[in-house]
Amino acid sequence: MGRRRKKKIYHDIEITGIADKGKAVGRTAEGEVIFVKGVVPGDVVDILRTKKRSKYVEGRAIEIKSYSKERVEPFCEHFNYCGGCDWQQMTYETQLQHKEDLVKNAILRLGKTEPQAFLPIAACADTTFYRNKMEYSFSCKRWLSPEELNDETISNKEDVLGFHPKGAFDKIIDIKKCWLQPDPSNEIRLESKRLAIEQGLTFFDAYLNEGFMRNMIIRLASTGELMLIYAFYSNEQEQIKTFLDAIIERFPQITSLFYVVNPKKNDFLLDLDFELYHGKDHIIEQLGNTKFKIGPKSFFQTNSKQAKVLYDQVVAFAGLDGTQNVYDLYTGVGSIALYVSAFAKHVVGIEEIPAAIADAKINMAMNQIENCTFYAGDVKDVLTDSFAQEHGAPDLVITDPPRAGMHPDVVEMFLKLAAPRIVYVSCNPATQARDIQMLSEKYDLIKVQAVDMFPNTHHVESIALLELKS
Ligand SMILES: C[S@@+](CC[C@H](N)C(=O)[O-])C[C@H]1O[C@@H](n2cnc3c(N)ncnc32)[C@H](O)[C@@H]1O
Repeated sequence: MGRRRKKKIYHDIEITGIADKGKAVGRTAEGEVIFVKGVVPGDVVDILRTKKRSKYVEGRAIEIKSYSKERVEPFCEHFNYCGGCDWQQMTYETQLQHKEDLVKNAILRLGKTEPQAFLPIAACADTTFYRNKMEYSFSCKRWLSPEELNDETISNKEDVLGFHPKGAFDKIIDIKKCWLQPDPSNEIRLESKRLAIEQGLTFFDAYLNEGFMRNMIIRLASTGELMLIYAFYSNEQEQIKTFLDAIIERFPQITSLFYVVNPKKNDFLLDLDFELYHGKDHIIEQLGNTKFKIGPKSFFQTNSKQAKVLYDQVVAFAGLDGTQNVYDLYTGVGSIALYVSAFAKHVVGIEEIPAAIADAKINMAMNQIENCTFYAGDVKDVLTDSFAQEHGAPDLVITDPPRAGMHPDVVEMFLKLAAPRIVYVSCNPATQARDIQMLSEKYDLIKVQAVDMFPNTHHVESIALLELKS
C-alpha cells in the first residue's frame, strides 16, 4: 500500500505581482514561480501547493501572515465562493494599475512590440451595478461552504436561486445580494424564489434532470426597459401562467416577459424557442445617438455605459472624417459599425452568427443608417481578395475578435489588404499582442489603451492603433 504524500506548504511567500488570468504571483525560497488566487501583491502568505509543473507551481493561500496596503475588505458576502468578482479584495486604483500592467506586459513582453504611447487606462465611473444582463439558476440543492459542510445539522436540501460555484454543476450558491446589476434586479431574483416556493413549484435538480424552475435572465437597458426570461423544465401551462401573472403583478415595470421550455440536460437556451408572454418582443438600448434593439437571444455588450466609452475611444483612434471606407470585423450585432457610421463614408461588417447579422440590419434600419452593409460568415472565409474588390480597399479596419484572437489567415489577409489604419479591440491582451507582433511586419504600433469594462474582476479590454509603415 502506497503512503499518502504530505502536501507541501511554502511559508512566508511575498506576493509580488499579477499574472495572466488575474492570478497573483510570487517566488518560492527555491526560486520557483508560484501562482495563487485571492491574494494581493504585497501580501505575505503561507501557500499549500496544489499543482507542480516543471516551470511553475500553483497553490492555495492557507494563511495571510501580513496584509498588503493594497488590500480592502470585499464588500460582497458571497465573495469567497461565488468567484464572479475575483478582485474585490483590491482597491479600485490597484485593480486599474494591474490591468494597465497586464496590457503593457502583453504588448512589450509577449508581443515584443513597443508602441509610441500607452494611454492611461479608461476607468469605469460605476464600479458596482454596471451589468445590463444577469443569468441565475434555480436548484433544489444549496451549495454549502466548507464550514457548513463540517456542521452535521446543516443540510443542502433547500430551494435556492443564484450562481454555480466553479466545479459544482448541480449545486447553487443562494445569492442574497448581487452587486452587479442595478435595481430592481436583486428584488426580482428574491421575489421569483419566494413566489416559486409559495406556489409549490419544484426547483431543478441537475443531477436527476428534473424540477420545474430552471433559469432566470434579467436584461435591463439604460432606457429603463426591462426584459425578464424564465426557463421552465416542462410546458405546464397552468403553472407557467400562475407564476408569470404573479411576477407581472409584482413588477409592473417589466416591458418584455418571455419564457422558454427546456427539457434538455444542459442550460443552453439559444437553440430553443422563446415564447413572448407579456409586453414587447425586445428592449431598446441606447449608446450615444445609436439605438439597439435587443431580443431575448441577442448578444450585446454587458456594460452599456462603458461600451460607449470604448466605442468613443475607437472613434478617437480611427481619426475618421466622413470620407473613409471602413471594415468592422467580428461585428456582433453591428454595434461598432453603426456607432462609427456617422463618421465614415461606408462601413462593412462581418460576423459569423447569422442571427446577430439579422439584428445588425434591423438596428441599421431603426437608426435610419444607410451606409452600412453586413455579411454573415467566418471572417477567414468572407474577407478575401474578391470581397475587397467588391467593397473597395479599406481605409480603416476595425477588428474585435473573440478571446482566441484572429486566425493566422486573417492576419495574412490584413497584411495583403494593407489598410492605412487598423484599430484592434480585444478582450485578451495576450492574443492581441501575438497578432500585433505578426502585423508589425508592415505596421507601426502607434498607441495602446486599456479599458476597464468589468470592475472588481481581472478582465480587461484593450484598444490598439496601428498605422501602415511609410
Ligand atoms: C468580442 S465580440 C465583438 C462584438 C462587437 N464588436 C461588439 O462590440 O459588440 C466577438 C464577435 O466575433 C464573433 N466571431 C467569433 N469568431 C468569428 C469568426 N471566425 N468570424 C466572424 N465572427 C466571429 C462572435 O460571434 C462575436 O459576436
